[in-house]
Amino acid sequence: MSNKEFEKMTSDRIVVRAIEPKDEDAWHKLWKEYQGFQKTDMPLEVATTNFARFLDPTVKLWGALAFDTETGNAIGFAHYLSHLTSWHVEEVIYMNDLYVTEHARIKGVGRKLIEFVYKRADELGTPAVYWVTDHYNHRAQLLYTKVAYKTDKVLYKRTGY
Ligand SMILES: CC(C)(COP(=O)(O)OP(=O)(O)OC[C@H]1O[C@@H](n2cnc3c(N)ncnc32)[C@H](O)[C@@H]1OP(=O)(O)O)[C@@H](O)C(=O)NCCC(=O)NCCS
Repeated sequence: MSNKEFEKMTSDRIVVRAIEPKDEDAWHKLWKEYQGFQKTDMPLEVATTNFARFLDPTVKLWGALAFDTETGNAIGFAHYLSHLTSWHVEEVIYMNDLYVTEHARIKGVGRKLIEFVYKRADELGTPAVYWVTDHYNHRAQLLYTKVAYKTDKVLYKRTGY
């Protein structure tokens, strides 16, 4: 089998869907990995609060998981939220987190997660989607430049928070 066929087969094996209650352990594992990547260690309370919010229909914070259908393993997530903006009547979507477990990268999983967020944004009637990344995260930007455009904005944060 050629590389191309293998890549295609691999991509066909990826499905993305909204997080469900049964995904808690799988999501926690990926969330832990993601914190390692981000060089941070968040309290467990953040994880449990996130997961509860994903499932709460009154909270506009959502989680999506990517799965390898052949193994059934969760291999990545996207978290996104909706918020008001003074620039549009409708809300906008902020993609808060995107993560693909190391062995599953460069197989189209990240792209499928972003496409899922775009689809949900359209369904919600809030099609504008944005996110931030570290300027040195070139790997992520290889994907982002294909599915979005890079703005000229620079992000500032209140010191200490
Ligand atoms: C960033 C991340 C989510 C991307 O996920 P992914 O599943 O590897 O991305 P995809 O396979 O969908 O897309 C990668 C794209 O970039 C290209 N690409 C990625 N790495 C590449 C490399 N080293 N050389 C050449 N092209 C590369 C691929 O060709 C692909 O383009 P295509 O869809 O046109 O084929 C993943 O690398 C990750 O989780 N990294 C650690 C966490 C992180 O950085 N999160 C983002 C924080 S903002």
